[in-house]
Amino acid sequence: MKIQIINGPNLNLLGVREPEIYGFSSFETCLEKLKSSYPEIEIAYYQSNIEGEIINKIHETGFSFDGIILNAGAYTHTSLAIHDAIKSVNTPVIEVHISNVYSREEIRRQSLIAGACKGMIAGFGLDSYRLAVEAINCSSLQIS
Ligand code: DQA
Repeated sequence: MKIQIINGPNLNLLGVREPEIYGFSSFETCLEKLKSSYPEIEIAYYQSNIEGEIINKIHETGFSFDGIILNAGAYTHTSLAIHDAIKSVNTPVIEVHISNVYSREEIRRQSLIAGACKGMIAGFGLDSYRLAVEAINCSSLQIS
């Protein structure tokens, strides 16, 4: 199984950026933990602050990977182009957020990408990424 994690703008500063919201851990630490918890899964990681580069990565991996975990950062709330990119590929995309966007400012309660995604996980800190890996990993054991 191959999973691509894509992090959008400002998520390269995890651990430093607003730690009271996003925590004190870097994403690299989280990635190491994920890789050691799921040695049987190939987990690729990509981060970009640039909308078009995120779209290119969705195109590049969206026909060959088993799942994409996407935290589009603030582009979540603005990017119809990322919505369209998700719609353009076959690989299911799971929208992930570290914070509970629905408990924050009004503008964060709107996701332009949610309707194109298979599902959404938000509010569990960096554990949101592990829950998304579980969702992809378990989809072959579906109860419903
Ligand atoms: C975020 C929530 C977004 O509203 C914000 O712009 C981010 C991070 C999250 O993971 O909680 O950059 O996607």
